[in-house]
Amino acid sequence: MKLLKTRDELNGELDPLWQAAARISLIPTMGALHEGHLSLARLCGPCDVRVMTIFVNPTQFGPGEDFGRYPRTLDHDLQLCEQEGIDFVYAPSVDDMYGGMPNVEIEPGALAEQWEGTIRPGHFRGVLTVVAKLLHQTRPDTAVFGEKDFQQLVLIRAMCRALDWPVEIIGGPILREADGLAMSSRNRFLKQTERESATALYRALCAGQAAVTSGQTSLADVQRVMLDVVESVDGVKVDYLTAVDGGTLCEGPFVGPESRLIGAIRVGSVRLLDNLAAAT
Ligand code: PAJ
Repeated sequence: MKLLKTRDELNGELDPLWQAAARISLIPTMGALHEGHLSLARLCGPCDVRVMTIFVNPTQFGPGEDFGRYPRTLDHDLQLCEQEGIDFVYAPSVDDMYGGMPNVEIEPGALAEQWEGTIRPGHFRGVLTVVAKLLHQTRPDTAVFGEKDFQQLVLIRAMCRALDWPVEIIGGPILREADGLAMSSRNRFLKQTERESATALYRALCAGQAAVTSGQTSLADVQRVMLDVVESVDGVKVDYLTAVDGGTLCEGPFVGPESRLIGAIRVGSVRLLDNLAAAT
């Protein structure tokens, strides 16, 4: 495994691979790696080279968000990548990524005007712009993203379709702790009591899924079932908890097997996201 810290180093390694038409797969991350990230690296499909990127992207954090305190554990991340057999870790500096660049960005459009996009204005503009840059910088055949960030995955697929990007976007299932909590780099900030409360989100989604699977079709009823679970737990604040169409991310009065249950809650200072298929 090789650590590449600059665009020049990246080009130096990838250029001969591009020339040889090697199959490249990209796994973009912000580091503080956990099993969820590593699981994506195993979904690349047949390829010659796996490039994992580790870059805490400042442009996707709003003012007052946790850019400063986002966990940065590069040495440990590199050990994990080594064990995983990743070929290249690309970990550029902010200056290398953005320094001296014109301020041209990707406009995410309507899919970003709800859920995470409303709560975090500008977030998806930052995400899509950095993902676009990483796709150009590495020119992969496949790129893998987690369903954990469901709206992000939908938007990245939409961007690649809308801009005719010749890359296959692969979505990976959510990896969870034994009690169901979706793995996340931010979970380490949960205090012990908060860690228990945090499971409420997954339990709520499971209750919603059980309701839909047993025939509930009214959004209001399914939402009530999910809210009952989280509202019974102290110290949990719900940002949203609902069912949406898995393609458009829009809410409708009815929930069906094609719907996705999505939720975001706050426990203490930590924001948690999760989602689940509406029916099994
Ligand atoms: P980050 O939060 O580090 O996540 C990197 C990738 O890992 C994303 O595709 C995310 O959906 C996936 N992931 C996170 N937790 C997961 C879990 N428990 N199971 C499976 N996959 C999981 O998402 C980002 O970084 C950034 O927005 C990025 C796309 C890198 C752009 O900066």
